[in-house]
Amino acid sequence: MQVPEIKVVPVDPDDEARFHAWHEAISAGRGADRVDPPLWTYPEALASFQRRSESLRREAFAAYDGDVVVGGGDLELPLRENTNLAMFELAVPPAHRGRGIGTAMYAYVQERARSDGRSSLLTDVSLPDGVEPADWPGIGFLSRRGFTLRNTEIRRQLRLPIPPAHLDALAAKAAERASAYQLVSWSGRCPDEYAEQYAQLKGLLMKEAPTGDLDYEQEVWDVDRLRETEAYAVAQGRTLHTTIALAADGVIAGHTQLAVPRHDLGRAFQWDTLVLTKHRGHRLGLALKVANTRVLSEQHPEVGRIDTWNAVQNGPMVAVNVELGFQVVEESQEWQRDL
Ligand SMILES: CC(C)(COP(=O)(O)OP(=O)(O)OC[C@H]1O[C@@H](n2cnc3c(N)ncnc32)[C@H](O)[C@@H]1OP(=O)(O)O)[C@@H](O)C(=O)NCCC(=O)NCCS
Repeated sequence: MQVPEIKVVPVDPDDEARFHAWHEAISAGRGADRVDPPLWTYPEALASFQRRSESLRREAFAAYDGDVVVGGGDLELPLRENTNLAMFELAVPPAHRGRGIGTAMYAYVQERARSDGRSSLLTDVSLPDGVEPADWPGIGFLSRRGFTLRNTEIRRQLRLPIPPAHLDALAAKAAERASAYQLVSWSGRCPDEYAEQYAQLKGLLMKEAPTGDLDYEQEVWDVDRLRETEAYAVAQGRTLHTTIALAADGVIAGHTQLAVPRHDLGRAFQWDTLVLTKHRGHRLGLALKVANTRVLSEQHPEVGRIDTWNAVQNGPMVAVNVELGFQVVEESQEWQRDL
């Protein structure tokens, strides 16, 4: 099925013209027919692929038909844990679909993953709410290549500002049970006094949050990794706003984090939220998010929407988000197969 003239080659992020063409193709393929898709802007992509990281190697590749880029993809190879995994994405702009370009890029992914000693392939596909998955191109493509669906997340979006009266009511509701905890917020770098504990908490997300049947190990975090992640956010032009809940004994019982991209004005992304099992049932999830959203609105009045992703089975987190006013936009399915 592969078209002979299609060549798939690595793309060097330092080669501006080629990296630019790659970015155009992958964005067009990734964003097609979706609702307000969250795509990396060019400066964000450049910072990500130029970055040297101890935790992840990232590689870009493109499909060429002669001199024309007709598809783009990326590979993410974890370096600390999950070293069996190759995470990837393939994207073909609609005008070039159905002629073997995706298949050619998939062959490249298999070859690169094998040569790097990886034994499991993982990817995700986003499709608008209400679309029949079998009718969406990426789903058929993966299921016909031996992938199985392992986890489903829903992307929801919250329009800002939240009406102040609604926010006050939610804060009061949370305070009924969360008043024994102190909320502390910061923007940018985690204060040194919390760094050790906060790094541990960051590492717990993949263990504590539901991830369905994904074959994915818990991440190992320390202060160096936390600092590396923070520096990476700065390089990408993203400001992180974090709120933690401190128990009376000084333990960080939970946290929530928002990222505000400087290169994609008007948006914010809800990243991790986690409350330790022992501290659940005190409405900390709601308390944390209300406080962090307030910080966001004060510091970034230009932000008009927040995107968040939750596993379908994550009832408690979804309930908090729905209370805040998040509404379903699309589904993001994670597909995996052994290599
Ligand atoms: C999924 C995606 C990458 C496929 O790209 P594509 O270039 O259309 O893929 P291909 O052309 O190789 O294969 C798609 C279908 O086109 C048809 N096709 C492929 N080569 C063909 C050829 N030479 N002649 C006629 N039909 C052909 C086949 O029906 C093929 O179906 P198959 O899956 O049964 O093999 C593309 O739809 C896309 O970018 N989607 C958005 C991002 C996404 O979901 N990515 C997948 C997760 S990584």
